[in-house]
Amino acid sequence: MTYREPAFAKLNLTLDILGRRPDGYHDLNMVMQSIDLADQVSLTLTAEEELAVYADLPFLPQGADNIAAKAAAGFFRQLERPCPGLDIRMKKVIPVCAGLGGGSSDGAAVLRVLRRHFAPDMPRETLEAVAAQVGSDVPFCVRGGTARAEGRGERLTDLPPLPPCHFVVCKPPFAISTPELFAQVRVKRLRCHPDGAGMEAALAAGDLEGVARRLYNVFEEVLPRRYSQVFEIKRSLLDLGAISASMTGSGPTVFGIFRDEGPARQAAEVLRRQFAQTFYAQNTGPSV
Ligand code: C5P
Repeated sequence: MTYREPAFAKLNLTLDILGRRPDGYHDLNMVMQSIDLADQVSLTLTAEEELAVYADLPFLPQGADNIAAKAAAGFFRQLERPCPGLDIRMKKVIPVCAGLGGGSSDGAAVLRVLRRHFAPDMPRETLEAVAAQVGSDVPFCVRGGTARAEGRGERLTDLPPLPPCHFVVCKPPFAISTPELFAQVRVKRLRCHPDGAGMEAALAAGDLEGVARRLYNVFEEVLPRRYSQVFEIKRSLLDLGAISASMTGSGPTVFGIFRDEGPARQAAEVLRRQFAQTFYAQNTGPSV
């Protein structure tokens, strides 16, 4: 039997860093949104006693090191039963090392499928607790929709859905190391923080302009100069008609919010001439 499950990318509408924790992680406050830019995950139950994982990009970890394998192992540890024979395949669409939660989302898709087949009564909270052990962004990727994420990113609160809108998502041709970027941050020296309360009020009012005006990611403030293309893409998105634009996660991907589909698709076409990894996307609702 084969299950197919979309693994949606995430965007950070806001990202704030509140402080460094004794465990080396940082306390965050983020508003997250899932979008329909998606990998396709397929999971087949096999007669082998093996957990086989393949991603269609050769430089990604295959087998036990892949986040999808860690998710499956964590799931069966929670159920206190041995992992059955599984063949998990990922068709990658979401750019990797991009701030879009691609790997986290693949792991999350595996967890959703396994819960559906093996433990339909498992509470969402339990599934998300398993997810948190796999990675900080995995719980949000399990849930999807619009949510506030606190702590390491694993403490979630559902928020009113973002009104339907259109995104252009553009990844410049370099990667930024997440731990390295966290190391640049001196929390007390951050000059600006996102207006989290204002963002949530705008979501509650269904006010897309208000949401767009409040996009803010503190990582932009500490971005080393060699990554300045991030700001050039933001500028281009605004010139091409975006209401607002921001970097997502620890970058380097930038997204713009558009009110209308036509201008968003046109902007994506223009940016794609310079940046091959440019996509048009729409927001999605919760996955569980
Ligand atoms: O949890 P995950 O493996 O996705 O995190 C990757 C890295 O990002 C961590 O090793 C840590 O350096 C950094 N991180 C952090 N604080 C967070 C989330 C991630 O410092 N809340």
